Amino acid sequence: AQSTHVAITPGDGVGPEVVAEAVRCLQVLREKHGLALEWTRFPWPSHAWHEEHGESWPEDALEQLAGYDAILLGALGDPGPMDDSERYLLPDSISLAPLLDMRKGFDQWVCERPARLLPGARQYLKDDRAKDIDMLVIRENSEGEYVSQGGRLRKGTQDEVATQMEVFTRKATERIIRYGFEQARKRAEERVQQGRTRSFRTLDGRTCESQVCVITKRNALRHWGDMYTEAFEEISQEYPDVATHHELVDAACMKFVQSPWAFDVVVASNLQGDILTDLAAVLSGGMGVAPSCNLNPTDPDMPSMFEPTHGSAPDIAGQGIADPTAMLFTTARMLDWLGQKDEALALAGKELFDAVAADLAEHGGERRATREIGEEVCRRLKA
Ligand code: IPM
Ligand code: MN
Repeated sequence: AQSTHVAITPGDGVGPEVVAEAVRCLQVLREKHGLALEWTRFPWPSHAWHEEHGESWPEDALEQLAGYDAILLGALGDPGPMDDSERYLLPDSISLAPLLDMRKGFDQWVCERPARLLPGARQYLKDDRAKDIDMLVIRENSEGEYVSQGGRLRKGTQDEVATQMEVFTRKATERIIRYGFEQARKRAEERVQQGRTRSFRTLDGRTCESQVCVITKRNALRHWGDMYTEAFEEISQEYPDVATHHELVDAACMKFVQSPWAFDVVVASNLQGDILTDLAAVLSGGMGVAPSCNLNPTDPDMPSMFEPTHGSAPDIAGQGIADPTAMLFTTARMLDWLGQKDEALALAGKELFDAVAADLAEHGGERRATREIGEEVCRRLKA
């Protein structure tokens, strides 16, 4: 097969530390299986780059990354030191901009954030059914509340008005909902293969192997809510084997805590998905274990981007104590994605997932250094 080439952007804070462990695992897997896999590092620490060039990433960053098969990102966000008036030099909105630029520039319209409470992961909920938590939150990643339209009128005055527009298109709505149904089917098939079936009731009393729950706030935000609901109902006709469900976002927050094991695939808007996935991350053991990815499933020439749900955690950066587990799960998902073109990569992804899960099962809850966890996973991969 033609070699697969990944762009690695370690980013800021704990990003480079957790990425180092991912690279270590990739090296082991490449050597072990003779994978046709290469990578190139783009360090670009946003604060230092901003000091020198006045922007957090090179102006042509997207052009530089465009030719790669995928982007593996550690974390972005570096406020830098405080200035004399105790304000951070680099506001979040600037150091994080490249993240949103990549999602937009490469049309990564799907954000997948699985939340499964694996053995060994910290169980925040007391209820024993928490062990059955296994959901996939799919966040619409291209529009909605993140279109960045609006502005400030009469800025700085007592009469100031800030507007922040939300835009939802029928096309983006339909594609994300359809994607949700496809994933629900795929997950049901995988579960059947692994002998762990689940059952969900449809409104007309049938039982299905999988479910899609769509999130809105249609009791208050009607235009968007109604369009989402209509699109959901229409598309669900094509998937009679998948149960459907709707929750208002506020009720969904409650039910994520009360009975998260009842969810399978959840489709949410950009901002609501952002919020729900922090909650879902905690349900599956915390930010230290929660993977994420930003996919463009429609254009094979555009790179998808793989980054853990967590941020750059500047408070613990440089200490070598960040948990690389989320980064390693994310890397496994990247290999799985790249495996669409080269099956050996998919197998390596599965191997990495299993090794990280085994490490978590054995050592979850222990206080370990970043490097220690990476080395232990590598040891398993070599065994
Ligand atoms: C995430 C983050 C980003 C988002 C921030 C850093 C802009 O919270 O990836 O979930 O809101 O999408
Ligand atoms: Mn977030």
